Amino acid sequence: MAESMQGLKRSHRCTELSGKNIGETVTVMGWVQKSRNKGGIIFVDLRDRSGLLQIIFEDGQISEEGFKKAEKLRSEFVIAVVGKVEARQGGINKNLATGDIEIRAEQLRILSESETPPFPIEENSKTKEDLRLKYRYLDLRRPDLQRNIMLRSKIAMIIRAFLAEEGFLEIETPTLTKSTPEGARDYLVPSRVHPGNFYALPQSPQLFKQLLMVAGYDRYFQLAKCYRDEDLRADRQPEFTQVDMELSFVDVDDVIDVNERLLAKVFKEVLDIDLELPFKRMTWQEAMDRYGSDKPDTRFGMELCNVTDVVKNCGFAVFTDAIAAGGSVRGINAKGQGSMPRKKIDALVKFVKDYGAKGLAYIAIGEDGTVKSSFGKFMTEEEMAALIGAMDGENGDLLLFVSDKNKVVYDSLGALRIEIARQLGLLDKNQYNFLWVTEFPLLEWSEEENRFTAMHHPFTMPMEEDLQYIDTDPGRVRAKAYDIVLNGTELGGGSVRIHQNHVQEKMFEVLGFTKDEAYERFGFLLNAFKYGVPPHAGLAYGLDRMVMLIAKQESIRDVIAFPKVKDASCLMTDAPNIVDDKQLTELGIEIAKDSEA
Ligand code: AMO
Ligand code: AMP
Repeated sequence: MAESMQGLKRSHRCTELSGKNIGETVTVMGWVQKSRNKGGIIFVDLRDRSGLLQIIFEDGQISEEGFKKAEKLRSEFVIAVVGKVEARQGGINKNLATGDIEIRAEQLRILSESETPPFPIEENSKTKEDLRLKYRYLDLRRPDLQRNIMLRSKIAMIIRAFLAEEGFLEIETPTLTKSTPEGARDYLVPSRVHPGNFYALPQSPQLFKQLLMVAGYDRYFQLAKCYRDEDLRADRQPEFTQVDMELSFVDVDDVIDVNERLLAKVFKEVLDIDLELPFKRMTWQEAMDRYGSDKPDTRFGMELCNVTDVVKNCGFAVFTDAIAAGGSVRGINAKGQGSMPRKKIDALVKFVKDYGAKGLAYIAIGEDGTVKSSFGKFMTEEEMAALIGAMDGENGDLLLFVSDKNKVVYDSLGALRIEIARQLGLLDKNQYNFLWVTEFPLLEWSEEENRFTAMHHPFTMPMEEDLQYIDTDPGRVRAKAYDIVLNGTELGGGSVRIHQNHVQEKMFEVLGFTKDEAYERFGFLLNAFKYGVPPHAGLAYGLDRMVMLIAKQESIRDVIAFPKVKDASCLMTDAPNIVDDKQLTELGIEIAKDSEA
């Protein structure tokens, strides 16, 4: 039978109590973690979001009725206990924050009973994630998840306080809106009032925050929900949260400065780590050449080495053909891995194929200097020696090569570098390497669409000195865009925006939009730009990713209260689901027969 509060007030959370409270009568409330009946004395571990506290019910110290109730306690019952804080008698439990005290119960109320939960509520749960997500409200009771969620709240509070102090206004923007240009697929919401018309959920507040700059709110921020219908991964959710900001009358360095101080503040307050400012910066080109990635993990070396010139005349056709086709040959040196078993090397070959590489050529140098290579028979001894020399290959090293178009070479070696580092345990979660990647290309050639697309978004400002190439060699134009990278994860990104209409129109032209099409999609922004636009720039972080890295978690699901799984469904609510025919009729929507399955 569930009792109610009836005037009872909680005096402390479990771990707010300590030796200092000995002798006090307190009231605590929470869930029964565990109950042990030793006959005449019952020990209960009480849990709330702060942690655990031991309660003792002893026959004779609590009313007979109270003791009878205590005998009924099971895991996850919700109870209220009034009792006295005492020094723990059965020896101190060093694993518990409250391990030196216990509460001798004088009153017990069972506020709610519980069925046996489908899995134990415990730290480092071994229960499959799917089951935990189905019962997410139980999963969220686990101390590790509670720590993550509380950490997330703390980080959000610090960010808000910092930005407010820096003169930013928190302003909300609509989520029933028009398609925004971040490049993913939109989630659409049908309109009942305008049958056949749809809102798009925002992929980011990009256009609205620029309009806020036009409107004169010169520093804006928002913790904004964003929606993107894209393939999910460990660091991607269909809905996620950005810490979004925009500033007027600024250039690249101003945005970087305020954001470095913001991150320093978060890391100091949350982890007590003093980040060294300013962070390192690297151009996109350098990042690609050295790390094969626009979000390099700089916690370890194993950098890419371009050996195109060294092998361009060698006898191995795989290399020379790729070079002749305009590609390159690059390698990485896995130091000390020369004796990696063949099976493991084969697994690496398979690994790079997922990134489009056709193969992975290797040279394994034994401790005694003997050379084993997958392409040795195609090379002369001199060619081999030159290649090993170019890679700084020493006895005991494993050299790995990919030849292909640059994009494939970068993608596959960039990923391989991380994979080998992971296998070798080189990824230290206690090290935080921040890096600004700057000077991204403005445009990216899309094979699929057979045209240039914006690498960041179409409102990003080209670098002034490159504007001269915009008609003749658009791929060469760099942008005033920057990403903030932490340990190989893109934490955030932004850019200086175009604020001159003629540059914006040029940009749309290069992207292959006619003026009419540009106005059709973004007319409200282009019109606004006719009425006085301050130069402006901004940035957005993925808050989920930030919390994930600070909490040292592998997946953003572990820092989101109610996340979705890989196929974008919610295992707890079963969303998305089929709706009533009546609702569809109101919306003027009919489901195509073959998509119903
Ligand atoms: P961008 O598209 O780079 O920029 O997004 C900013 C940051 O949001 C995070 N992020 C995600 N996090 C979780 N799941 C996702 N599916 C997901 N997609 C992106 C990343 C990313 O760095 N409007 C611009 C910002 C600007 O120019 O000011 C924008 O949205 O951490
Ligand atoms: P093959 O001549 O196909 O036996 O290939 C010889 C070696 O070159 C094997 O180790 C292949 O994995 C490797 N290889 C094949 N294609 C490529 C490529 N594009 N880049 C690097 N190595 C490759």
